[in-house]
Amino acid sequence: MINIPEYLVDKYNVPVPRYTSYPPANFFGKEYTEKEYRESVIRSNQDDPKNISIYIHIPFCPQLCYYCGCNTHITRNEAMKSNYLEALKQEIKMLRPLLDPNRKVSQVHWGGGTPNSLSIPQITGIMELLKNSFTFIESPEIAIECNPAHLDHAYVDSLINLGFNRISLGVQDFSEDVLNTVNREIPTIPIENFVIQIQESGKAKVNLDFIYGLPHQTVKSFGQTIEKALQIGPDRLVTFSYAHVPNIKKSQAILEKAGLVGPSEKLRMFENTYEMMKNNGYTPIGLDHFAKPDDELAIALNNKTLHRNFQGYCTRETTGQVYAFGTTGISQLESAYAQNAKTVNGYIQAITEGRFTTEKGYLLTSRQKLIRHVINEIMCNYFISWEATANRFNLQQSEIFNLIRYDEEQLSIFSEDGLLISSPVGITVTELGRFFVRNIAASFDPAIGQAGKTFSKAL
Ligand SMILES: C[S@@+](CC[C@H](N)C(=O)[O-])C[C@H]1O[C@@H](n2cnc3c(N)ncnc32)[C@H](O)[C@@H]1O
Ligand code: SF4
Repeated sequence: MINIPEYLVDKYNVPVPRYTSYPPANFFGKEYTEKEYRESVIRSNQDDPKNISIYIHIPFCPQLCYYCGCNTHITRNEAMKSNYLEALKQEIKMLRPLLDPNRKVSQVHWGGGTPNSLSIPQITGIMELLKNSFTFIESPEIAIECNPAHLDHAYVDSLINLGFNRISLGVQDFSEDVLNTVNREIPTIPIENFVIQIQESGKAKVNLDFIYGLPHQTVKSFGQTIEKALQIGPDRLVTFSYAHVPNIKKSQAILEKAGLVGPSEKLRMFENTYEMMKNNGYTPIGLDHFAKPDDELAIALNNKTLHRNFQGYCTRETTGQVYAFGTTGISQLESAYAQNAKTVNGYIQAITEGRFTTEKGYLLTSRQKLIRHVINEIMCNYFISWEATANRFNLQQSEIFNLIRYDEEQLSIFSEDGLLISSPVGITVTELGRFFVRNIAASFDPAIGQAGKTFSKAL
């Protein structure tokens, strides 16, 4: 039984990045414009990985869940949706000629907002354009995030027939009281019916998403939610720690009146989930994912080849450089990040004028690529080998240590707290250390502590 001492919670519950990218998105700058994006895309043809990952952002949601930290646009305006989809198609057609036609698509991810707020003909239109514009690898991963309150069985069948082979359902909690408190619609069709349908198709896998730390949740009630999830048996389960940033997401302030869960109770919720998932045969992956042991993520973790991008965990085989389409989409290339316009109208207008909508971005230095690698390995594989890193970057180990913020003293504090084992070979994060992996990663980040950057707390 993993038991996290209270003093570690007090010590490490400080604001740190989630490191879905390095440098984190709040370091992206406005000096990176459409011109730099075009140059980065052309350059990306020379960089590895060669595969192409495509991210499609659908910002629309019919109703705002107060906790939501995603990039959304709350509307039921059908004209706006169809104009947006026309712009999205235009953006795909503008990018296509910049990419080397020999590169193949290995991954397509539809995120939001709520992609299933679109009709099946609308999704089909985009999928057909992608299939006609790019060559795909033999078994690409085609994933979509869905709000189950807006799903029915015919819709799910259509998604599977369109080639979606991973469907994520945002459950958040099975308690109607919790869902009502956070203003989230309650699904009319039981989640288990969708899971059975997807699994019985034999063509797609299913993820269930949950959030812990929402008002009215307790360690006991969230345990009951996870118990129910285990009975349903998804292929993967994700438990996000509620990220409370009301200065950025104003509606989150509403939840403060309902009473937020304190850090130590939140941690007990995760501890409990972690034990329950492990005892039922799931492999913990990274910060918040759990997968069946024969799942490719679990296998990649064993082989230390797990990888991560803004869309979640992936394997080195499936991932590629990510090209994002739609509002707020972040392209993640080997040498740069580029984020699209935030507003739907601004996006539609720029694309209609034949411009990419790059609003900000970042060009990585070779030192930052090294730091990114170290942070990714620690966060995903819980292990960094200094020899392998030196070989990968064609540097001496001593040069690596100079370039990352290698601090013996800081590492020994983590070792004394039982969070990691440091040896001349490398660093191994212990099982206890996994709960504080963001803090460990941050110790290699020279930019941490820069003024004006806001992060959610570690726990
Ligand atoms: C784009 S949303 C999901 C798609 C769909 N709109 C839905 O709600 O089911 C992706 C996931 O992010 C998680 N999420 C949203 N806001 C969050 C927050 N503030 N903290 C932690 N996780 C959050 C939720 O679990 C959600 O399912
Ligand atoms: S949680 Fe999902 S449905 Fe709710 S507002 Fe956020 S993106 Fe939309």
